Formats: sequence, C-alpha cells, structure tokens
Amino acid sequence: MSTTVLITGGTRGVGKALVDLYLRHGFEVIATGASSTSVEQAKVNCPDVQWYCCDLTQRQEVSNLVQQIGTLPLKLVIHNAGVQQSRDFFQPKRELLSIEDETAINFTSVITLTKKLFSNIEQQSGTWVFVTSGLGIAPKQSSPVYCANKAGLRAFCKSLNGQVKRHASRVKVCEAILPLVDTDMTRGRGTGKISATQAAQEIYDGVNKAKPEIQVGKVRLLMRARALFPNFIENIMLKL
Ligand SMILES: NC(=O)c1ccc[n+]([C@@H]2O[C@H](COP(=O)([O-])OP(=O)(O)OC[C@H]3O[C@@H](n4cnc5c(N)ncnc54)[C@H](OP(=O)(O)O)[C@@H]3O)[C@@H](O)[C@H]2O)c1
Repeated sequence: MSTTVLITGGTRGVGKALVDLYLRHGFEVIATGASSTSVEQAKVNCPDVQWYCCDLTQRQEVSNLVQQIGTLPLKLVIHNAGVQQSRDFFQPKRELLSIEDETAINFTSVITLTKKLFSNIEQQSGTWVFVTSGLGIAPKQSSPVYCANKAGLRAFCKSLNGQVKRHASRVKVCEAILPLVDTDMTRGRGTGKISATQAAQEIYDGVNKAKPEIQVGKVRLLMRARALFPNFIENIMLKL
C-alpha cells in the first residue's frame, strides 16, 4: 500500500506545514512550488521531500509534473496551492496576476491534475483533498475572482463526490475549508488568524477520519451562523 502524498504549494504557508506534518507521520512526500528560488530553498530545508517546480499557470509545467509522477501510486493528493489577487472593477490598479492566471492556479489546473492523476489515486483507494476557503461560501467584495474560484472548486468537489458514490468507488473526496490563516497570503490584513500549523493539523485529522468536509477553525462557526442568518452573514462578508 502506497504512503505517498502529493502536496501542491508545499514551499510556504499551509502547504509547508502539511509537508512537515506528513513527513513526521512517515509518509513519502512529493511537493511542488511555483518558483525555482522557493523550490531550491525548500530542497535545502526539507531534503527528504521529492520537490518539483511547477508553475500551475503553465500547461506545459503541469504536463511535465504529471509525466514525472508517471504511474506512481498515490495515497493522497492535497490541492493546496492558491493565490488571492485584490481587484476593484471600479478602481483598476496594476495587478500582479491576470484573471486567467489566478483562475488557472486556484481552479483549472486543479481539475486538470485531478483528471490526469485519477488512476494514481484510484488504484490505491486514495483521497483527494481540495483546499478551499470560507470565502467560497460567503464571498467578500475585494477579491471577486478568488472567491468565485473557491466557490467553483467547492462545487467541483461535491460533483466529484457524487460520481464516487454513483460508481461505488473506494476513492475519497474531501474539501478542507479554511478560515483566515497567518501566511504570506494574509500578511498585513485580518485579525484572529490561526497558524498554518493548526490548519494543517485539522486537515490531517479530518482526512484520517475520512470526512468529506473539514471545517477548519472558525469555519464551523461561519457555517452555523450562515444556516441561521444567511443574508446577515453574507452582507457582513460583502463589506470586506
Ligand atoms: N491564508 C489564508 O488565510 C487562507 C484562507 C482560506 C484558504 N486558503 C487557501 O489555503 C491554501 C494555501 O494558502 P497559503 O495561505 O498557505 O498561501 P501562501 O502562503 O501564499 O503559499 C502559496 C503557495 O502556493 C504556491 N503558488 C503560488 N503561485 C503558484 C503558481 N503559479 N503555481 C504553483 N504554485 C503556486 C506558492 O509557491 P511559491 O513559494 O513557489 O511561490 C506557495 O507554495 C490556498 O489554496 C489558499 O487559497 C488560505
């Protein structure tokens, strides 16, 4: 039985905490980063990991990653890499990321990788983990593409789970919904963040319990409050 886990975006933040955690638990870890600088640094810090440089905006690099993994059986794929670009359609500023690139990283490349690595997981009755956000449930106004990407990923995850059930497959599908986590993505904004280590631990525990939906930290509260007062919660979030 394979004990190999593939973690995208393992160089920093939640992904790095997941890499450390799975290594500690004796897994074989394959991880990716986007830039050669971050991947070279990660190789020095974490030499026991098989590192690949894969910019998810580049179709060729996604294909190369799939080719390098080949037929290797995978116990777990954690689609963790993600980016968030602020955008105001009424006050356009120079944006670091185009709409297409943001969507490629957060959404389309995830679906492509899922399709191309499907048999690697299926042969092991393995688990797909999709890292989404509370913002995919109650969006804020300031990052509209990111919120839409995460909502789309949540829908994809649910459809995939439906197919798993219809085919009575032993593959598992899990959505890990994160609250604000203290990483580079949220540097300089937001309060009450949890650490990347806590987020990773809750994902790890939820996967072990085969939960289809892992509500991390304050997401549990968000879900309960939204069930009781849907409009109120959405209006609060839309002010952000
Ligand atoms: N932080 C939060 O509050 C929060 C809340 C909800 C959900 N999330 C989700 O949690 C996940 C991890 O977020 P994080 O906060 O840990 O982010 P982070 O600290 O900013 O790290 C982002 C990771 O994604 C990789 N990445 C960036 N651009 C990429 C690209 N073009 N191609 C491939 N990989 C790329 C980075 O690689 P390099 O190091 O090479 O750039 C890095 O490993 C994301 O899916 C995010 O949407 C985060």
